[in-house]
Amino acid sequence: MQLVDNLAAPTRILIVDDDASVRDVISVLLQEEGYECRTASSAEAALDIAAAEAPPLVISDMKMPARDGIWLLEAFRERYPETAVIMLTGYGDTEAAVDCLRRGAVDYLLKPPKLTDLIRAIERALAKRRIELARKRYQKKLERKVRDRTSELRTALKDIQYTYQNTLLALVAALDAREHETSDHSQRVVQYTAAIAQRLGIDGSELEEIGRGALLHDVGKIGVPDAVLLKPARLTAAEWTEMRKHPDIGYQMIQGIPFLSTPATIVLSHQERFDGTGYPRNLRGEEIHIGARIFAIADTLDAMTSDRPYRRGTTFENAEAEIFRCSGSQFDPHVVRAFMDIGVSTLRKIKQDMAMAKTRSVAAVEADAQAAEAALDEALDDTDHGDDALPRAAHGQR
Ligand SMILES: [Fe+2]
Repeated sequence: MQLVDNLAAPTRILIVDDDASVRDVISVLLQEEGYECRTASSAEAALDIAAAEAPPLVISDMKMPARDGIWLLEAFRERYPETAVIMLTGYGDTEAAVDCLRRGAVDYLLKPPKLTDLIRAIERALAKRRIELARKRYQKKLERKVRDRTSELRTALKDIQYTYQNTLLALVAALDAREHETSDHSQRVVQYTAAIAQRLGIDGSELEEIGRGALLHDVGKIGVPDAVLLKPARLTAAEWTEMRKHPDIGYQMIQGIPFLSTPATIVLSHQERFDGTGYPRNLRGEEIHIGARIFAIADTLDAMTSDRPYRRGTTFENAEAEIFRCSGSQFDPHVVRAFMDIGVSTLRKIKQDMAMAKTRSVAAVEADAQAAEAALDEALDDTDHGDDALPRAAHGQR
């Protein structure tokens, strides 16, 4: 679709009339006015001419044998919407004239048209068409701009989300390191939590928020003194009081961040138990956020199946039996059922896949480091050779 006319060339006008004398008179008059005219004796012939090059303007008789002016008008509206059409109507045929305008003609003139009326109508039609083309160009430009901006925004948003997620991961890794744990624990709990949540039909943003709550569950431990958090022996009652503050501390830390308001709720309630004997608020049943009820199972599963310095982890089968045993007391039976539906082989595979992914990424980092070292060696070799090639006098001059 051509949205710009060649302004240097004369404007082409196609005149359509079954009456040769009308065609010729209009054509001669308009050529004298500087227009380039083509003529057609029927609607079909007019379309044949337009097929080679659509004219900016058509002046067509209304009544023609075979296909009439209305038919031609509609054909042009459909195939060449940029072409303006002026209709010539018989005297007294007002209804037909109104019909033409309704179907998209820019104007109509009574036959035979006066030259001044004809010129005025042509100029009006062409001006209207130019404005319409300019509007379309502007719209296209605007649409392109909006599309570009939208894609820029989408990329920026993705970058922000990526950075944001990495910041959370770094924070959690730092906390895990403080407890001399690898960050695998937090990541695994997130994966188990997501698997159970999906089994319960949770998806989309709700799933993401629950995952973040699981990831950040112990963020409040930053406020627990080392002497308590890292104490290798049993905690005293006073130390337990300190320890039990961590859900509250975590909640206070992140609840003001808009993205993290739901995860904050999960952080606050991640130590609650289904029967109401948990802390800090002794919530029971569905008072506990569903994310926290799911997390409780994921956390127990990972704690039981992971090795600790003082004990080896148990099997997934044992962990599953223990979780089932605590259904209704520590855990929500509905969530336990979803957990049991997943099956130990799938859960074990989650852990194995994560371990493999980590090995792969460590191997990739090592390979990168080796490649960088080799490249450095090569570069240094080249420099050495370069020095050897220097004339002795050049060395002497330094
Ligand atoms: Fe905790």
